[in-house]
Amino acid sequence: MLDVGVGSGRFAEIAADHGARVVGIDLSRAVDAAAENLGDRALIAQADLFRPPFADGTFDVVYSIGVLHHTPSTASAVRALAPLVKPGGTLAILVYRQAAWYRMADLYRHLTTRLSDRSLYRLSGILASLYPLQQLPVVGRPLRFLLPVSSQADREWRVLDTFDWYAPRYQWKHTKSEVVGWFRDLGFESIEVLDFPVAVRGRRPLDK
Ligand SMILES: C[S@@+](CC[C@H](N)C(=O)[O-])C[C@H]1O[C@@H](n2cnc3c(N)ncnc32)[C@H](O)[C@@H]1O
Repeated sequence: MLDVGVGSGRFAEIAADHGARVVGIDLSRAVDAAAENLGDRALIAQADLFRPPFADGTFDVVYSIGVLHHTPSTASAVRALAPLVKPGGTLAILVYRQAAWYRMADLYRHLTTRLSDRSLYRLSGILASLYPLQQLPVVGRPLRFLLPVSSQADREWRVLDTFDWYAPRYQWKHTKSEVVGWFRDLGFESIEVLDFPVAVRGRRPLDK
């Protein structure tokens, strides 16, 4: 399996623990963390998904979770990954959808995308500490709307996901039909929309 945009390796770890032979790529220095976290359970390489260092048809499964919408064009990113899937293999992606509370976060992103990593990390820590207040009755709901923060139960993951939300230069949002359309245009079959929005997977036909 190829994990595209492996980050610190949290999903590659799950795949490896289920017995997959996993290769993970990422553009950033996150590869150092992934290599440390995964050890010999996966092969990690620093690479750009638009110029993948693999022959076409190398992988039974190519998946990418929370990554492609952070590139200049999500559709082009999907087109770049499709050839890496073996005929009969699976491509599965998760990209962001539009939602009401994201609009507030997108307003803040005009500022947060200009902060240094260090300042944004500190701010993410402060925001993540507000999470318990956001669970209170009555005041919780407006607080969640006004100050969108990751809802991960573990604080460290909450800081990471909050940072991830407010840092990237590109952060496109997509609809199910748009994503399914990309898979269809690439000739994929057995296309399924999965529960967590917007997650889609499809099978590369045997004769392509
Ligand atoms: C939000 S993180 C998600 C990481 C991981 N999939 C997860 O969910 O924990 C997005 C990752 O995509 C990587 N990324 C962005 N553009 C990329 C590209 N062109 N090629 C490879 N990785 C890329 C970033 O470096 C970052 O680690």
